[in-house]
Amino acid sequence: MADPIQMNSPDVRYTEKHIESQYAYNTTTVSCDDGKYTVTPCTTRFTFRTERMVPRLGVMLVGWGGNNGTTVTAAVLANKLGLSWRTKDGVKKANYFGSLLQASTVCLGSGPDGEVNVPFRDLLPMVHPNDIVFDGWDISAMDLGRAMERAKVLDWSLQEQLRPYMAKLKPRPSVYIPEFIAANQEERADHLIPGTKAEQLDQIRKDIQDFKEKSGVDKVIVLWTANTECFCDIIPGVNDTANNLLAAIQAGAEVSPSTLFAVASILEGCAYINGSPQNTFVPGAVELAMQKGVFIAGDDFKSGQTKIKSVLVDFLVSAGIKPTSIVSYNHLGNNDGMNLSAPAQFRSKEISKSNVVDDMVQSNPLLYSPGEKPDHCVVIKYVPYVGDSKRAMDEYTSEIMMGGTNTIAMHNTCEDSLLASPIILDLVILTELCQRISFCTESDPAFQTFHSVLSLLAYLCKAPLVPQGTPVVNAFFRQRACIENVMRACLGLPPQSHMQLEHKMQRSCLNGCDDQICTTATAPKSAALLRNGYHAPALNGIQHNGFEAHR
Ligand SMILES: NC(=O)c1ccc[n+]([C@@H]2O[C@H](COP(=O)([O-])OP(=O)(O)OC[C@H]3O[C@@H](n4cnc5c(N)ncnc54)[C@H](O)[C@@H]3O)[C@@H](O)[C@H]2O)c1
Repeated sequence: MADPIQMNSPDVRYTEKHIESQYAYNTTTVSCDDGKYTVTPCTTRFTFRTERMVPRLGVMLVGWGGNNGTTVTAAVLANKLGLSWRTKDGVKKANYFGSLLQASTVCLGSGPDGEVNVPFRDLLPMVHPNDIVFDGWDISAMDLGRAMERAKVLDWSLQEQLRPYMAKLKPRPSVYIPEFIAANQEERADHLIPGTKAEQLDQIRKDIQDFKEKSGVDKVIVLWTANTECFCDIIPGVNDTANNLLAAIQAGAEVSPSTLFAVASILEGCAYINGSPQNTFVPGAVELAMQKGVFIAGDDFKSGQTKIKSVLVDFLVSAGIKPTSIVSYNHLGNNDGMNLSAPAQFRSKEISKSNVVDDMVQSNPLLYSPGEKPDHCVVIKYVPYVGDSKRAMDEYTSEIMMGGTNTIAMHNTCEDSLLASPIILDLVILTELCQRISFCTESDPAFQTFHSVLSLLAYLCKAPLVPQGTPVVNAFFRQRACIENVMRACLGLPPQSHMQLEHKMQRSCLNGCDDQICTTATAPKSAALLRNGYHAPALNGIQHNGFEAHR
């Protein structure tokens, strides 16, 4: 398919295989001497190369028969088949709401009618979710038709339409080590890969090869959406290096199922994403990924409460308000909730949810002294009756001016798996896109790809995994801007600055593009801009200020 966006720029070249852009990356270095800052701008010239050919993508889900696994598969099928269904509130149609790539837009620039917003997915050539081929593993043998019913997420009349397709999908047997998930999951575990750890590793690798061959996909990405495991210990000689980890598997030492899947995927050259909180990526697994040049990403989907936290605390701290206490209660009644009712599995979730405000707090030394943090408490309870419809109740208490207190209390009810499913799609589609992006600089002209630890996906993860020694960014809007600006760089476009100077000048004096864009001196041609808050020039300036003064 032709690219929906064509760059008209001397910095961008289209070849049969690539979009190649020249990009000036501007950074600043700061030194501090005696409380005085010296700031030095630096520019590095990059060449970005994006492969234009979009491959056929296969996604293998570990935990395919769970709520997320069945819901994401059903949602893609429903979209592909263009299904609609009746509910008591009327007819609903399949869509991808909640997906950054499929259901949100980015501003490309200005045209005669004002801002031009396009779907995020149109920025660069990328896989459409309807074209993803799914496969996967589960310790429960249920086919996906019955598993979808067990999940109790989708409306019944939609399930009826999907069942003939879903019933044909059967998870492959998986690895079950009872100590890693809650004891209450034992009944489910009726579909297991036998043998030693080394044999299980081999079987997972064979499964990936088998799927690739039979489905005809060009590449496979593996994503863990199985139960939350307990954290595992980092043991020198067992999982601290790639070689030790491989040897430990051969010797049958304790390695968690999720790490076993990660190792199998990496050895097969397939990117591996961890959608749960546990520390799957032990140092040995990270080193193995780096040695093999395979992407890994995680941890834990950022779907509900944490997503709001990464927005709200970002807002509060950057508005100069000081959050002092954050208390988060959840209750949920799905199988995830049942598994998390065991202390060790809850602990994994608690850890993953706990650090989300750190970077925002540290960024503001005017509010917080070194080492100071808000009180932060997370509670999760299992209440079977509410099923997949998770309740999250949060209380944010902040200090405001002159010793005042500001308390925000929030109640959020959401279908957990319907929030997680679009995140799963964004994760695999962005990972695949990143596999087609390479870049070099003037001083290092050999093309390279992103670091194996793909921190670009932080926006989608509760506890973002980053390369060792690099900063963790949890702030929601910075994470989103990172994805958008990297894609813009691939098109030779500068980062989105939001300055909109062209609308803030008395006289338009922008180079070359003046006739293309709408300035304050000219009214927009379409009503769209008026709806978006365009004020006629007469209302600006003195008259407007006079009105303000009388209020
Ligand atoms: N839904 C959300 O909003 C959300 C958000 C963040 C993280 N998560 C995480 O995603 C994971 C999945 O959530 P869910 O609601 O689908 O849970 P679920 O319990 O419905 O599904 C998990 C599935 O994994 C299977 N399983 C367990 N161990 C396995 C193994 N070793 N190999 C293969 N399959 C195995 C189970 O049989 C089950 O079918 C959980 O860890 C959860 O904490 C979910």
